[in-house]
Amino acid sequence: MNTEVNHPRFARMYPKLAAWAEEHGAQEHRAESLAPATGRVLEIGAGHGLNFPHYPDTVTEVVALEPEETLRELAREAAPKARVPVTVSDGVAERLPAGDASYDTVVCSLVLCSVRDLPTALAEIRRVLRPGGRLCFYEHIRSRSRGFAAYQCAVDLVWPHISGGCRVSRRTDRAIPGAGFTMKHVRHFRFPPGRNPAPTAPFMIGLAVPE
Ligand SMILES: C[S@@+](CC[C@H](N)C(=O)[O-])C[C@H]1O[C@@H](n2cnc3c(N)ncnc32)[C@H](O)[C@@H]1O
Repeated sequence: MNTEVNHPRFARMYPKLAAWAEEHGAQEHRAESLAPATGRVLEIGAGHGLNFPHYPDTVTEVVALEPEETLRELAREAAPKARVPVTVSDGVAERLPAGDASYDTVVCSLVLCSVRDLPTALAEIRRVLRPGGRLCFYEHIRSRSRGFAAYQCAVDLVWPHISGGCRVSRRTDRAIPGAGFTMKHVRHFRFPPGRNPAPTAPFMIGLAVPE
């Protein structure tokens, strides 16, 4: 058991919660986010492996880290669904089990909202990426609307306790460039679309490279 990330109830719930989103657009978002991935890939907080079928042929190998035991076992079962070789291991973003400049691509999807220490996680991602490497991200973020952001901050008084440590008011879109990355491409959108947005609705998909 990974004692740093231990959310067994969330780990049992997440596959059921994610199924709805996958059917309503998340699969397309994953494919869009992973399209620029190439070479050796490190996926952080892979969950139960929903990204695996979407890796393009430009990827030679995926090392998928997942600290939650239940999700890690499900990810191992999902690995053969990928078109590329996927190995699943234990590991946290704040202390990546990887050498300096050892990966061409790092993938973060719906995980930078949940890591305990975002600046340390981003510094680790920068360390393991080779010069010119790529960070592919698909994340929900704090709204650019002040009113909605205030609502998200209020939601965050309880949300992390029921959602495996996830925070809906994180400014991940600012934290990535703040950690020494250049944003090459970012698409902002609301998901799911609708008149009454969920607290997780402001999303971004994009690509960043180490400066
Ligand atoms: C909302 S789930 C997303 C799972 C998967 N990336 C996806 O796209 O479906 C958040 C994931 O982050 C993982 N996680 C939480 N804290 C982490 C950390 N410090 N390092 C790595 N992964 C972490 C959780 O175990 C969980 O699998």
